[in-house]
Amino acid sequence: MPRTFVICKPDAVERGLVGEIIARIERKGLTLSRAELRTIDRDTAGIHYQEHDGKPFFEDLIKFVTRSPAMLMVVEGPDDAGDEIYAVVRNLMGATNPATAAPGTIRGDFGLMVTENLVHGSDSHESAEREINIFFPGI
Ligand code: RTP
Ligand code: MG
Repeated sequence: MPRTFVICKPDAVERGLVGEIIARIERKGLTLSRAELRTIDRDTAGIHYQEHDGKPFFEDLIKFVTRSPAMLMVVEGPDDAGDEIYAVVRNLMGATNPATAAPGTIRGDFGLMVTENLVHGSDSHESAEREINIFFPGI
C-alpha cells in the first residue's frame, strides 16, 4: 500500500488539535496504519530534518519539535492512488507558513506562525520511506 509519514507537531498536541487533524486525514479517505505519541529526541529530530542542518532556523526547529510529545503517524492510501499519497497529505496541510496557507487547509485554518505550523508531511515518496524507517524502523 502507498504510504506517507505525518507528524502532529508538539503545538498541535498541546492545543488539542490531534483529533481534528486525524479526522481530516481520515475523511479524505486515508487510514492510519501506525500511530504513537512520542517525545522526539534531539538526535532523531536532527536526522529527520537533516536537509535543513546549517540553516538559520535549524536550531529553533529542533527545539520546537522536541519540546513535548508529538503524534507520529504512518498514513496509508488505496493501492490505485499510486505513490502520490504524500502529495494528498501535503495538500491537506497547506503551505509551510500558516500566515499565508489557504483557508481549508490544516495550517491555514489553525496556524499563524511558520515556527508553529502544526503538522509535518513527507515531501516525496522517497522521503516518506526514509522517515518511516527513522521513526518506525523495520515496518
Ligand atoms: P515540514 O518538513 O515540517 O513538513 O514542513 P515543510 O516541508 O512545509 O517545510 P520545510 O521547508 O521542510 O521546513 C521545515 C520546517 O522548518 C520550519 N521553518 N522555519 N523560520 C523560517 O523561515 C522557517 N522556514 C521553515 C517550519 O516549521 C517548517 O515546517
Ligand atoms: Mg519539509
